[in-house]
Amino acid sequence: MNIQALLADKVTQALVAAGAPAGSDAHVRRSAKRQFGDYQANGVMGAAKQLKTNPRELAAKVVEALDLDGIASKVEVAGPGFINIHLAPEFLAEHVALAVKDERAGIAKISQPQKVVIDYSAPNVAKEMHVGHLRSTIIGDALVRTLEFMGDDVVRANHIGDWGTQFGMLIANLERVEKEGGSQASMELSDLEGFYRESKKLYDEDEAFAERARSYVVKLQGGDDYCLAMWRKLVDITMASNQAVYDRLNVSLTNEHIMGESLYNEYLAPIVADLKEKGLAVEDDGAQVVFLDEFKNKDGEPMGVIIQKRDGGFLYTTTDIACAKYRYEVLGADRVLYFIDSRQAQHLQQVWTICAKAQYVPETVSLEHHAFGMMLGKDGKPFKTRTGGTVRLVDLLDEALERATNLLAERDNDFSDEQRAEIAEAVAMGAVKYADLSKNRTTDYIFDWDNMLSFEGNTAPYLQYAYTRVRSVFAKAGVAPAAVCGDVIVEAEQEKILATTLLQFEEAIQAVAKEGTPHVLCAYLYDVAGAFSSFYEACPILKSEDDALKASRLQLAALTAKTMKIGLDLLGIKVLERM
Ligand code: ARG
Repeated sequence: MNIQALLADKVTQALVAAGAPAGSDAHVRRSAKRQFGDYQANGVMGAAKQLKTNPRELAAKVVEALDLDGIASKVEVAGPGFINIHLAPEFLAEHVALAVKDERAGIAKISQPQKVVIDYSAPNVAKEMHVGHLRSTIIGDALVRTLEFMGDDVVRANHIGDWGTQFGMLIANLERVEKEGGSQASMELSDLEGFYRESKKLYDEDEAFAERARSYVVKLQGGDDYCLAMWRKLVDITMASNQAVYDRLNVSLTNEHIMGESLYNEYLAPIVADLKEKGLAVEDDGAQVVFLDEFKNKDGEPMGVIIQKRDGGFLYTTTDIACAKYRYEVLGADRVLYFIDSRQAQHLQQVWTICAKAQYVPETVSLEHHAFGMMLGKDGKPFKTRTGGTVRLVDLLDEALERATNLLAERDNDFSDEQRAEIAEAVAMGAVKYADLSKNRTTDYIFDWDNMLSFEGNTAPYLQYAYTRVRSVFAKAGVAPAAVCGDVIVEAEQEKILATTLLQFEEAIQAVAKEGTPHVLCAYLYDVAGAFSSFYEACPILKSEDDALKASRLQLAALTAKTMKIGLDLLGIKVLERM
């Protein structure tokens, strides 16, 4: 249930009944302070301005017309014309009881599911995944999970960089390595970055090698079997190493979701021809260029976007044009979410502008760039190794595990080595993911080991631990959460806060789905954990003498556990029963 939407509906009706024009927005928001109620409607002032009437008087009329029977216990006009709404305890109790019994914790699926393509992760072949791909991978996967949970039909699109002229030198080098090392070849490729550098060096320094490399590019593009087989090997080796990272991070991508640049190869020439025919692309200094009024170059003139080079080669932009067209035409996308760092914003804008002009993708399809900033080190500079190199993801994850292991070793417990290893892995991966997910993605963020692995504050270990605490209540009580029943009683202030917070789950999920911002869900889960902790201190559960009260409080605890589990699942973070 979405309380905010429910109230917005009701207040809007009342607003219109009080004389405001149809289509007025009640602007119902959560109240910033509890003394202003649980929600407040801020739309009266705007409507009063339009009607040229006194806002407080209009607010009084709205309250008069407002029917919140069974929903609110108090509705009052405040300040210049705000309407403060206090939710009724019976309303909260009723909906908590319903949510406890529902395996989706009361979250309804959306009524109009969409086909949504999510473009994320997108590492490059024969290159190591780096921290930039980590952000895209983690945030994108949280959106995949969230939209699927809400009922959308999601296509995971891993737009890997698996095409381009560099494959000539990579194939030539793979051939050399195989000739020299036989079956050792794949071993050497475990250092992909080194392999790439080596290929480049040979290409620059060895004329015969360069010659071969160039001929392989032509052959590969012409569909030559040998070159295609070698290319495939490079893709497979790279993606096998990336898959290990995905699995460790509990990211739901598999080989099935690879839709790399090569997929669009066959469409590139026809698209350039079509754009020429439509008069959008023109020849400029031998290249094919689309001039866009929407973008100005340094001299204030329309910016030229190259879609085919003089030598006939196509570009990253050309591929993305074909790709957007394909996602609409072939995949039938209603919505496409791109999780790419903010430096590619202009690139995407240009691609979409061209697609709109050429009528490849209609306006009704929502193309969205969910940009993110950079990952910075503690010094505020781009995250690098001590020697200034890019940080390999595998190394990053290993370090996380090592740190989590050391941290857990300091804690008192009776776990077996096996259990401890499992907990350390879940905490380590959870910490790395959550550190990224919990920040507003549009800004750069500082990667700080101590913060992310802390058991206090808005971190994965804190939430994972909070979850085990809730679960331990049931272990102590000797009942399964699913077995608790009876009426829910919302009386104490802490019960009311916890119940209200729990019933705001759908609002948080919907915000994530709409804006592509998992940090909203993180902040929400942190609030839930906090509300539970205050409730737990103030309201004895198992020590309660009153059986009805005990059953009610167990239900609040059951819904807390369920909410946290579903929420962390949507973020791709594992929960533990004990830690
Ligand atoms: N492979 C690209 C990179 O590493 C990201 C691709 C993003 N997706 C897209 N449709 N352009 O920067």
